[in-house]
Amino acid sequence: MEWNAKKYNTTHDFVFKYGAGLLELLPKEPKKVLDIGCGTGALTNQIAELGHEVTGIDQSINMINQAKESYPDLSFLQEDILNPSDQIRLYDVAFSNAVFHWIPDQDLLLKNISEHLNVNGQLICEFGAVGNVQMIREAFGRELKALGVSFEEPFCFTSVEGYRFLLKKNHFEVVEILEYERPTPLKGGKYGLREWMEQFYAAELGELSIEQKEQVFVNMEQELAPRLWKKDHWEADYRRLKIKASKTR
Ligand SMILES: C[S@@+](CC[C@H](N)C(=O)[O-])C[C@H]1O[C@@H](n2cnc3c(N)ncnc32)[C@H](O)[C@@H]1O
Repeated sequence: MEWNAKKYNTTHDFVFKYGAGLLELLPKEPKKVLDIGCGTGALTNQIAELGHEVTGIDQSINMINQAKESYPDLSFLQEDILNPSDQIRLYDVAFSNAVFHWIPDQDLLLKNISEHLNVNGQLICEFGAVGNVQMIREAFGRELKALGVSFEEPFCFTSVEGYRFLLKKNHFEVVEILEYERPTPLKGGKYGLREWMEQFYAAELGELSIEQKEQVFVNMEQELAPRLWKKDHWEADYRRLKIKASKTR
């Protein structure tokens, strides 16, 4: 899927603002860091400001171009972590905020990360846990079903147990793993839910006519308002996983 980088930076900046807490897990001494799925580069820049030598990679050319424009002195590469080129070398830390749930093959993801980390290197990441935005996903699935449109969930949300298994299989020892609820206020007042959907379900909504899309939004707003509308904004039912793991060999 391709991203609208400008809109991401203005309307969905909560993603990297929440991610700032993940920076606290980074080592204090300077390291070589790979920021996987760096998006528009806001956290990559903060990693550099902490004194690390960081490379940001993202499969989206829009995101990478925006990152280069905002932070011309930093290193950004358009790369798919599932198929990395030989420009991706060995790092001390693999960092990633709000990316892994977009990647269906979690085993290959962790294998590739493991292969590009030094022994004792660290994986520091945050992403959607099982049950993330469940109310929104279920409502959207029902709407598409009613329209006769097939819906394949674009996200892969994992449990703590599932991840422990995959980490071990790929030579990581868990240092810290935390699953938590993070109700997330959306920007845009009454349009917040639509704007969130336009960003994160861009591909699925692109299959609908303008009229169908409007109907889906109206129906979802009606259905979800009793649980997710909070006086003057929408609040998405986020659940997250935060992980620090060390490569064992
Ligand atoms: C929600 S954004 C998070 C961006 C950034 N980490 C931040 O905190 O703002 C998810 C990013 O993951 C990237 N991404 C998804 N799958 C990827 C893959 N296989 N390889 C590299 N980047 C990927 C997307 O292109 C997108 O920019």
